[in-house]
Amino acid sequence: MSQKTKIAVFASGSGSNFEAIAKACLAGELNAEVVLLITDKPEAYAVERAQKLGITTAAFSPKAYGTKAQYEQAILDRLQASDVEWLVLAGYMRLVGETLLQAYPSHIVNIHPSLLPSFPGKAAIEQAVLHGVKVTGVTVHLVDEGMDTGPILAQEAVRVIDGDVEKTAEAIHAIEHTLFKETLHSLLTRK
Ligand code: GAR
Repeated sequence: MSQKTKIAVFASGSGSNFEAIAKACLAGELNAEVVLLITDKPEAYAVERAQKLGITTAAFSPKAYGTKAQYEQAILDRLQASDVEWLVLAGYMRLVGETLLQAYPSHIVNIHPSLLPSFPGKAAIEQAVLHGVKVTGVTVHLVDEGMDTGPILAQEAVRVIDGDVEKTAEAIHAIEHTLFKETLHSLLTRK
């Protein structure tokens, strides 16, 4: 088997997508290795998940840096020290800036819980339910300088269940964990 692609997963919250990807790598479903969990929130539950899986966490607090460029440069130094090839955003609730975009052109992937371009930004599931749409979904896309913009790689529709955020979120997360893994597999095996 060819050498495993080194990826870093970025997460700010619970980290269920991070865990799904890390487990897929460990199970050999993805020919990749999660070499780092990068977080902007040292208290995120994702950090605990990483500990359990034996994955190194690097936490960077944006407030500790004068500018976004300095914050991202510190992250970049850490990524380069581990020879990271792809960045996978899994609930990383920050806009990626020029420093990382230039260092990883077309090598940053994000997952978002809506059918983009509908409902970008925070609380996408709440936005969709409040709007009264009957179908929402999940999008995996390459990252550019915009908020949840960039070329779409994969989408899957999910029905809004009983106009209920929690029930719909549960269905969305289940789809996310599979769609992210499958899309990364296609991306990492394409010639
Ligand atoms: C996921 O639903 C992901 O799509 C979303 O954050 C959640 C993280 O869940 N991302 C965004 O909204 C990006 N704009 P997780 O921490 O359990 O993986």
